[in-house]
Amino acid sequence: MKFPVNVPLITSEDRQAVLKNLESGWITGESEMVEKFELAFAAKVGAKYGIAVSNGSNALELAFAVLDLKPGDEVILPSFTIISCLAPLLRMGLVPVFVDSDPSNWNMSVEAVLQKISPRTRAILVVHTYGLAVDLDSILQICREKEIFLVEDCAEAHGVLYKGEPCGSFGDISTFSFFINKLITTGEGGMCVTSNPEFDQKLRKLRNLAFEPETRFKHNELGYNFRMTGMQAALGLSQLSRLDEHLSHKREIAKKYIYNLGQNLNITFQPESDKNSLNSFWVVGIILKDTTVNSNVIRSHLESSGVGTRPFFYPLHLQPLLGKFGFAGTTDCPVSEKLWHYGFYVPTGTGMKLTDVDKISEIISSKCKSLGII
Ligand SMILES: Cc1ncc(COP(=O)(O)O)c(C=O)c1O
Repeated sequence: MKFPVNVPLITSEDRQAVLKNLESGWITGESEMVEKFELAFAAKVGAKYGIAVSNGSNALELAFAVLDLKPGDEVILPSFTIISCLAPLLRMGLVPVFVDSDPSNWNMSVEAVLQKISPRTRAILVVHTYGLAVDLDSILQICREKEIFLVEDCAEAHGVLYKGEPCGSFGDISTFSFFINKLITTGEGGMCVTSNPEFDQKLRKLRNLAFEPETRFKHNELGYNFRMTGMQAALGLSQLSRLDEHLSHKREIAKKYIYNLGQNLNITFQPESDKNSLNSFWVVGIILKDTTVNSNVIRSHLESSGVGTRPFFYPLHLQPLLGKFGFAGTTDCPVSEKLWHYGFYVPTGTGMKLTDVDKISEIISSKCKSLGII
């Protein structure tokens, strides 16, 4: 593939940091690098504590595991997101209450969230889709009033500010991913952050097989091994020092795509900003307006010209596995379905050259023309 969908920026400083950790021999979850990364990352996103884990999906598993939730409790979440958001709920016997996206920004509709609050709602999971912050004010207010937990999934929004405050600072527990395509990467990796000392202790314990401090191999609780290695943390710390640069670069990439392709009225981009936040453009997504061409058609044309793309998320409310849990067909989320049907994203990696954006835009333009999307 000439233009892979993701080219990460891994610098010689990153390599040196990992090498140094390797040479120290302290390469497991007990490495001091893990604690250093946790402290630095939590500070960057406005939280007191960081609990580094093996990936963003496990960060969500851990977050839900420590909240005081019982089978049958309802959790509100967007339909238009990754399976990692749904998986912990199904595993714990919680009831997923899906909300549709707002067509103007692709985020979960705040109005729909408020409408779906019921006496059984115990948590809301917000996801800042593709890097644009959800309008959190009314959600925060209702969470406070009704004692509902807020889990903030910031896997796509490292360094994004909502009304000047960092995403990650709003959730009772907030989660991040450091997968290779994220704003900063540790290859695989993730983190829970919180400012609640009780949650911090519980998250730390469950991450580490729920070992008891005094009687190490006698277990009172069922934990997980979700530890991050020292090598990953060393890379994470090195990448974190460039988070703001990565953010600017992503925003420049998006600006260029929008400048190059924005005059085509049959394609739509996510907004670059709204009144509350600046989009991080974790990925640059494109929605086709022409209802005769779905995203698979143009994606296969682009792939054959060397441009890597990915489809959008398949709506959670339609996931085939829901039938096994008795939740099939419970909701209608037409916007989420439309996003999946007509949306795809184009190369947006932190290591991508801006000149490549021009070359890719030309290819997209000509494919659009040949498919009548003009
Ligand atoms: C919103 C969201 N949550 C969670 C995850 C899962 O992260 P990971 O791939 O590190 O498990 C992702 C991954 O892309 C994501 O986009």
